[in-house]
Amino acid sequence: MATRHFLTLLDLSPEELRYLIQRAISIKNGLKTHGPTYTPFANRTLAMIFEKSSTRTRVSFETAMAQFGGHALFLSPRDTQLGRGEPIADTARVLAEMVDAVMIRTFSHQGLETYAAASTVPVINALTDDYHPCQLLADIMTWTELRGGVKGRTAVWIGDGNNMCHSWINAARQFDFQLRICCPEGYEPRQDILDAAGERVTLYRDPQQAVADVDLVTTDVWASMGQEEEQARRQADFADLQVTEALLDRAREDVLFLHCLPAHRGEEISETLLDDPRAVVWQEAGNRLHAQKALLEFLLLGRVEG
Ligand code: CP
Ligand code: NVA
Repeated sequence: MATRHFLTLLDLSPEELRYLIQRAISIKNGLKTHGPTYTPFANRTLAMIFEKSSTRTRVSFETAMAQFGGHALFLSPRDTQLGRGEPIADTARVLAEMVDAVMIRTFSHQGLETYAAASTVPVINALTDDYHPCQLLADIMTWTELRGGVKGRTAVWIGDGNNMCHSWINAARQFDFQLRICCPEGYEPRQDILDAAGERVTLYRDPQQAVADVDLVTTDVWASMGQEEEQARRQADFADLQVTEALLDRAREDVLFLHCLPAHRGEEISETLLDDPRAVVWQEAGNRLHAQKALLEFLLLGRVEG
């Protein structure tokens, strides 16, 4: 059987994704009641290649492996032969001889695809310039936990048409909800990704209109990792798109606010937004752990019922 990878949300069927969300919720509840007594990853190793910084992704993958009885290895280009030019496909073949799965955070999505094509063990996208699918597992999990489901609802993305935005578009397709995207001219998501989503996704320019009556509001930093030198220009271009408590007031009364974090208070969100009860970002961040466990379990062991 071909090795399953998780490079975007489109690598799993909608039904498999729904299974993962339910499984993540059940793993979380099991941890609360029984503690970490389930150790299906005994003697299994996850290699984690980080070419960009991370707090949540690293800690959640490493903790997921540890709590499930396995082991995670942190690899950075600075300390491995990757940084000295060893071809990624060679690295993929070597690691597949030793570890059970590989998680990669890198710049080029194409580079990740090259790696996965050469890997006989599952490869997980832990963020590229184009996508961040693992974050969406935690986001949809949080939305599902708090509101019972996402099908047929409406979310709004306010900000850059970046890797997170692309993954929200894929989520709208796979989980069947409406997505509004409010971005300045010149910062739209990629046209092919938008086109593939069809009528589920609508572009807006005015945040006041975009948030009207939505179920969920989300945003992200204006300059992603690798775009640091564009920070000043982006701050000017996105100045009208700050998410504030007053903006959330225009959404449904039970609206939720998500942010993948890290957040820049005073830029894409007001100084106090994360203190508002509608912001559920700490639960969202914590859910990275449970979603990662469900994903790793699915890729390493297949479906587990219960
Ligand atoms: N949200 C997220 O991926 O956070 P880190 O960059 O800290 O991993
Ligand atoms: N868009 C952000 C997400 C960080 C988790 C970045 O790529 O830097």
